[in-house]
Amino acid sequence: MAEHLLLTPRLRLRAWTEADAADLFALASDPEVGPRAGWPPHTSLDESLGVIRTVFNNSTTWAIVLRSTDTPIGAIGYGPSCDCHLPARCDEPTVGYWIGQPYWNRGFCTEALACLIEHVHYSTSLPSLISGHFVDNPASGRVMEKCGFVPTGEFCTDPTLVDGADRLIRVLRWERP
Ligand SMILES: CC(C)(COP(=O)(O)OP(=O)(O)OC[C@H]1O[C@@H](n2cnc3c(N)ncnc32)[C@H](O)[C@@H]1OP(=O)(O)O)[C@@H](O)C(=O)NCCC(=O)NCCS
Repeated sequence: MAEHLLLTPRLRLRAWTEADAADLFALASDPEVGPRAGWPPHTSLDESLGVIRTVFNNSTTWAIVLRSTDTPIGAIGYGPSCDCHLPARCDEPTVGYWIGQPYWNRGFCTEALACLIEHVHYSTSLPSLISGHFVDNPASGRVMEKCGFVPTGEFCTDPTLVDGADRLIRVLRWERP
């Protein structure tokens, strides 16, 4: 589980717990969320619990929760790029994130990603991070650019993602200044 607790003015980035399963299901069963990031909507509470026990159960995946209520509103993390089809450099991790639709366009993802980058900057020696977004999901690109990611000029597809064989992904990179 996430080793570090990260704080921003409005958010806490903490490890996911099994008690979050119902909140996760409520947000991740929304068909407007997962497919924009390339994963299918959750179809049962059990599936959400399974994701907490597996996909989210590592040291670099965090629940994004409101500090005021400890309610999960999304997820963020980074991990090996061998799991995706981005044109990553050797050992360059990929960043991923999502926010539940009720919380969109309030600056939460930007706040969480800026916090993650600060953590990577000060607590690791990673020289860079890579990420990408479907070209029909410009809000995600906007979040990355606000946090210092720069378009590489490259585009790719990823057939392992929802409809990924036919959807262009715009590639961006953050480099340690
Ligand atoms: C993309 C996503 C993470 C953004 O989260 P968020 O908390 O709403 O993001 P923020 O509020 O911090 O910033 C959103 C920015 O995108 C902009 N934006 C929103 N919709 C947009 C659109 N259709 N076109 C262009 N920009 C858009 C907002 O205006 C804002 O930019 P601004 O601060 O310059 O005004 C969220 O919509 C989401 O989770 N979507 C589904 C899953 C997903 O796409 N994950 C990322 C996969 S790469």
